[in-house]
Amino acid sequence: MKAAVLNEQPGALSIEDITVDAPGANEVLVRVVGAGLCHSDLHFMEGTFRTPLPSVLGHESAGVVEAVGSDVTYCKPGDHVICCLSVFCGQCRQCLSGHPYRCMNPDATSRPKAAPARLRRSDGSAIDQFARLGGFAEMMLVHQNAVVVITKDMPLDRAALIGCGVTTGLGAVFRTAQVEPGARVCVIGAGGIGLAAIQGARIAGAGQIVVVDVSDEKLEVAGRLGGTDLVNASSVENVVAAVKALTDGGVDYSFEAIGLKATAEQAFNMLDIGGTATVIGMVPPRQTLDIRGIDLLSEKKLQGSMMGSNQFRTDMPMFIRMYLDGRLKLDEMVSGRLQLGEINEGYEAMKRGEVTRQVIIFD
Ligand SMILES: NC(=O)c1ccc[n+]([C@@H]2O[C@H](COP(=O)([O-])OP(=O)(O)OC[C@H]3O[C@@H](n4cnc5c(N)ncnc54)[C@H](O)[C@@H]3O)[C@@H](O)[C@H]2O)c1
Ligand SMILES: [Zn+2]
Ligand SMILES: [Zn+2]
Repeated sequence: MKAAVLNEQPGALSIEDITVDAPGANEVLVRVVGAGLCHSDLHFMEGTFRTPLPSVLGHESAGVVEAVGSDVTYCKPGDHVICCLSVFCGQCRQCLSGHPYRCMNPDATSRPKAAPARLRRSDGSAIDQFARLGGFAEMMLVHQNAVVVITKDMPLDRAALIGCGVTTGLGAVFRTAQVEPGARVCVIGAGGIGLAAIQGARIAGAGQIVVVDVSDEKLEVAGRLGGTDLVNASSVENVVAAVKALTDGGVDYSFEAIGLKATAEQAFNMLDIGGTATVIGMVPPRQTLDIRGIDLLSEKKLQGSMMGSNQFRTDMPMFIRMYLDGRLKLDEMVSGRLQLGEINEGYEAMKRGEVTRQVIIFD
């Protein structure tokens, strides 16, 4: 099958013909229909974060079950599924305390190191699956706890976006921060994740949704998806002052959806008393953040959010219902459909800030 492989960091993706194994007892083979381009893969292509190589990247994919292993009871061939990197073991402390997205036992849902790899080159050498998914490929072989079965009414190219971006953005609002009706919200960064957070805030009934980006095109889309006040960071002198002026002293909830020190600090500094800043963006590993200690006295909070603190087997079908009833706008989030062979161009366009969400279509 064809897959987009990262062979060096930093490096571009190379489209290679590789072999996928038959499902093991607990595994599911998925024929991929749509795969979204998330910025997280780009961080790994750029070498800001490390991952075992060679690796098939991609972690935002949906498709159709082709085959299942002998112990799989959850799904069957023909089912439509979304894959999620929050693979849960169901037995560790985090899983059992209601936080399966923090599962601490990846070995339980991976093949033993000594077993043949799920993906291999023709010479037999192993290829890693990024995030235990490897979504930029015609086929994915994953643990059954990495998929959720969805209704066939849901178009699979848009279902793919729910695999990471939508769940991360909506989940950060609904689950991690728990925004309440009427709240003043600011989302910094209106890419795929930010646009999902904006929609989460709208659906949650936020009173005001300020959006900050450096691109007028992104801000225009953000306005259509729920942003009430749009701030171009490159045309104001001070982002924090601009947001405070718009929100009568600061916001109750801010979301950083880029992954930069400066914008993560802006997210905290724009809070009103008692506010909560949620950093969704992947800040580089050695990067520290500076906040003033005195701000903690007024109960301002800074927190992270991993994959929207999801419980994806129930969250994703809920997001699909929101799409099908018109509340969640996914068609408007997709700025381009690509072939697998165009993936590097897609990421170049993301680097230039020209796109919202792009989806690879496999036909
Ligand atoms: N926490 C998680 O579980 C999780 C999950 C998925 C993605 N992420 C991370 O979320 C971040 C966003 O991902 P994405 O796919 O939406 O990326 P993206 O590239 O589509 O969007 C980033 C947006 O930020 C804007 N931007 C860049 N610099 C800016 C600045 N200084 N001020 C204001 N806006 C600026 C860009 O114009 C763009 O619209 C990435 O760091 C990604 O790795 C985290
Ligand atoms: Zn992602
Ligand atoms: Zn677990």
